[in-house]
Amino acid sequence: MSGKVVNVVAIGCGVIGSAFLDQLLAMKSPITYNLILIAESKTSLISKDYKPLSLQNGWRSALQNSQQSSLSLEDMLEFLKKSPQPVILVDNTSSAHISGFYPNFIRNGISIATPNKKAFSSDLKIWDDIFAAKPTDGLVYHEATVGAGLPIIGTLRDLIQTGDEVEKIEGIFSGTLSYIFNEYSTTEANDVKFSDVVKKAKELGYTEPDPRDDLNGLDVARKVTILARISGLKVESPTAFPVQSLIPKPLESVASSDEFLSKLSQYDDDLSKLKQEAAAENKVLRFIGKVDLATKEASVGIQKYDASHPFAALKGSDNVISIKTKRYVNPMVIQGAGAGDAVTAAGVLADAIKIAQRV
Ligand SMILES: NC(=O)c1ccc[n+]([C@@H]2O[C@H](COP(=O)([O-])OP(=O)(O)OC[C@H]3O[C@@H](n4cnc5c(N)ncnc54)[C@H](OP(=O)(O)O)[C@@H]3O)[C@@H](O)[C@H]2O)c1
Repeated sequence: MSGKVVNVVAIGCGVIGSAFLDQLLAMKSPITYNLILIAESKTSLISKDYKPLSLQNGWRSALQNSQQSSLSLEDMLEFLKKSPQPVILVDNTSSAHISGFYPNFIRNGISIATPNKKAFSSDLKIWDDIFAAKPTDGLVYHEATVGAGLPIIGTLRDLIQTGDEVEKIEGIFSGTLSYIFNEYSTTEANDVKFSDVVKKAKELGYTEPDPRDDLNGLDVARKVTILARISGLKVESPTAFPVQSLIPKPLESVASSDEFLSKLSQYDDDLSKLKQEAAAENKVLRFIGKVDLATKEASVGIQKYDASHPFAALKGSDNVISIKTKRYVNPMVIQGAGAGDAVTAAGVLADAIKIAQRV
């Protein structure tokens, strides 16, 4: 037993936050992880004396019965600054408000583990603020911001820190768009319509409530921004490079997602032509994010791949990334589920463990 103790703060109890708490509480470890604060937007559980929260009947019922309202981030920081043990703050929200506050936490020695992409993929200034680390700063791990639990960010950082040089990164970073294109464009000719696949993806619960939030490419652009920055490109923001939207222009402003889905079939021909062209060349279409270090360019959009390419054989909603470096002349390929509660929460928990081992 190392006898090490860390205090854990868990913010956000949605899909990932709930799975994270279940995994953390079930984990056996030589390090003691004391949960001292669990917060939803409005309610929270706070251990004012920094002793572990008492959760005999489970964290869900404790939180449901809690009368404590959530602290402001400023008050939370004041509380955490006085913690007698190192603090790991786990942000399982998608809040820009919380992620905008990371630099304040970090400068005060509080470490962060998070799947929230916002801080890492917004303006370059907040990225620079976060990673301008001093020895007394908290640590920051965000593996699950790209590819959920897949070992992408840690691997990329390891390659770079050991002196390898990244030349090109290409990948399918959206589970939703992976599913849509894997169904739509196959190595055997098919007459599947784009609008029908989008509707099916929505029925299966693979899309955001409004599928336009997947089809606009912004989520992929955020992930590409993160990978580009780790690789050394100073990308200003996820809108600072070409991002292809799959939303037909006239449908960008229709009011509801139902209206959008009902009208999408009017535009099926646009993509059909491209799909047929690809099939004639024994290729498939995939929606990919790309970082080219030689040209210093990032981009997001549809690309054709040979039937023999690993991206063409992708199944379901898997993510895949191919990293070509000076050492990996044949690119390193990492593939697997790129979304889902258990794998994403495990990615976040693994980050929390790495922090606990280092602080
Ligand atoms: N789902 C996936 O497969 C997946 C994969 C990779 C990464 N991620 C990332 O993981 C994060 C969480 O995703 P999710 O699917 O779990 O989303 P979710 O189910 O919508 O959960 C987010 C939770 O955050 C809470 N929240 C928002 N603002 C808050 C605040 N200021 N203080 C405390 N709690 C707050 C919300 O609770 P209230 O109801 O209290 O507002 C909500 O329950 C996101 O950043 C997402 O991009 C998800």
